[in-house]
Amino acid sequence: MAQAPVKVTVTGAAGQIGYALLFRIASGQLLGPDKPVRLSLLEIPQAVRAAEGTAMELDDCAFPLLAGIDITDDPRLAFDGVNVALLVGARPRTKGMERGDLLEANGGIFGPQGEAINAGAADDVRVLVVGNPANTNALIAQSHAPDVPAERFTAMTRLDHNRAISQLANKLKAPVSSVKKMTIWGNHSATQYPDIFHAEVDGTNAAAAVDDEAWVRDQFIPTVAKRGAAIIEARGASSAASAANAAIDHVHDWVNGTPAGDWTSVALPSDGSYGVPEGLISSFPVVSQDGRWEIVQGLEINQFSRERIDASVAELVEEREAVRKLGLI
Ligand code: NAD
Ligand code: LMR
Repeated sequence: MAQAPVKVTVTGAAGQIGYALLFRIASGQLLGPDKPVRLSLLEIPQAVRAAEGTAMELDDCAFPLLAGIDITDDPRLAFDGVNVALLVGARPRTKGMERGDLLEANGGIFGPQGEAINAGAADDVRVLVVGNPANTNALIAQSHAPDVPAERFTAMTRLDHNRAISQLANKLKAPVSSVKKMTIWGNHSATQYPDIFHAEVDGTNAAAAVDDEAWVRDQFIPTVAKRGAAIIEARGASSAASAANAAIDHVHDWVNGTPAGDWTSVALPSDGSYGVPEGLISSFPVVSQDGRWEIVQGLEINQFSRERIDASVAELVEEREAVRKLGLI
């Protein structure tokens, strides 16, 4: 019997990440080459027409795995029966907007989307939040979905993870495939901490192979943490294809497992590991086993790392307080 399609909902489908993402999902790169998908595109009313244009192009690709496309501006319809929810659409910061305004505007998006997921999602739903501020948007959505296990809500730090691998490989003139066990800790923001102390390059400890703390402190960490801003400065728009690529990597590994001998980075609700307050959606080193993320335990955290993890986590605590005060969680 033919397999039932997996329902994948993409919000902000007419945006630039959406355009880079949808074709890869439909071609089988998200879930695997034997898994049919049904796409559900959620947009705001003004952008539904543009989403229809993208859907026409998807049709024109004649992807064998694409079982259908639905387009709507109603979150309840978009998330009804959803198995994989990619929350990409968000309210960007515009001129004159304060941080509180940005959080409030996003609360107006991610609260109702969380409720719609709670009301109609499939039992196995997995949620990835890409739209910024991703960690706190994920927290808002999760807090509006009390019937869905909290660990199904994640935020994306895979792009930061991939950026860190690439920077380290360049420094050591090694292929990216030789870099394993990279870690991003904390928030998807400039305070994030890319950690090479447990990373390996061709089986050798990466920090030892680099042997240059000044490079790690003054080059590597700021380059990775500020890469998003550097791309906006160069392109005049935020990263899109690389963000879509990271979303594909994230869900692919979640569903299919992380490779043996490696781990990845995901922002997920803390269980208190590594001193991160419980419930905060913070990035950790994780493996995926049997379709579930598990935080890698037992890593020794040196003083250099401790200070940086604590700083990023403190920012997340502040964001959580801010949305709490606004009544968004
Ligand atoms: P974009 O402006 O091109 O597209 C966003 C789309 O979202 C628009 O089409 C808009 O109409 C839609 N949208 C807005 N509100 C919506 C709602 N309530 N429901 C459904 N759709 C809605 O932006 P983009 O370049 O695609 O980026 C999307 C988000 O991803 C931004 O917040 C960006 O900062 C973030 N981002 C995150 C990462 C990461 O690593 N986590 C990386 C890159 C970009
Ligand atoms: C990125 O890391 O590329 C984005 O999160 C940057 C942004 O602000 O959209």
